[in-house]
Amino acid sequence: MIYCQVHIVFYMEMNDWNEISKSYHEWIISPFQGADIDPLYERLEGVSGRREKSVADFGCGFFYLGKFLSEHYKSVHGSDFSEEMVKTARLINGRFKNVRIMREDMRTMRHDEAFDVVVIVNSVIMPSLKDIKKSFVNIHRSLKRGGSAFMILPSMESVIYHGMLLLNNELARRTEESARKTAKRRFEKRKYDLFLGYYKDDDQTQKFYYMHEIQYLLKKTGFRDIRFDKVRYSWDAGVSDFQPFPKEDPLWDWLVTAKK
Ligand SMILES: C[S@@+](CC[C@H](N)C(=O)[O-])C[C@H]1O[C@@H](n2cnc3c(N)ncnc32)[C@H](O)[C@@H]1O
Repeated sequence: MIYCQVHIVFYMEMNDWNEISKSYHEWIISPFQGADIDPLYERLEGVSGRREKSVADFGCGFFYLGKFLSEHYKSVHGSDFSEEMVKTARLINGRFKNVRIMREDMRTMRHDEAFDVVVIVNSVIMPSLKDIKKSFVNIHRSLKRGGSAFMILPSMESVIYHGMLLLNNELARRTEESARKTAKRRFEKRKYDLFLGYYKDDDQTQKFYYMHEIQYLLKKTGFRDIRFDKVRYSWDAGVSDFQPFPKEDPLWDWLVTAKK
């Protein structure tokens, strides 16, 4: 999820991310704050011989993973296309000697078989499918043969699951017709494009992924051994303004593991 204070932070171009970086936590609910991120750390710790290996985090934002990666891997590359994100990432991570942080765009970057491991945390969220494909190709190209990718991607199924919770909640207190209407309104159904996996508001768009879509895209890119897990978000107030259902299973992002 890439939720913001009011709802969802949309995919933005470089300058928008520069602006967001100035008040990042007011806008972004990152899995590093709102979710149980342990499954990602477990994957990263589980890479054998990691202390002799290189790792990259593309679209690193403030690079919250920098310290952890620096302690567990030999060399660490963090990058982002927003100049302001890169500046802050350098401030936070500057003291780690094996960490290099630079500005680059995943859609155009070129690293040939440079890294043993690649991490992505909610940064491949472009509304253009062509940009998404270019990014996955460049991520795949950047991995050494046999290397691993760990990617957190916003889940469309999670959004639809929340819609189902809304509907069932309304059904308990209204007629079926009224419950459907109310649930759709709360879900903001008109703003979702369930075919494309988009949430749209005015001219801004946020991409969410279906599991089958991730599987298809990664397989076509050349990834193999594609596996899915979840990073689960807390229902706690403050994590998002989504109506909470604390007795139900939580919302999630996909945690995808794949090999080159
Ligand atoms: C929601 S933030 C996530 C940041 C970080 N990975 C985290 O989880 O804290 C998305 C990040 O992706 C970056 N980003 C978006 N599109 C990008 C692109 N095409 N190339 C490089 N970075 C990009 C943005 O600048 C932003 O820092």
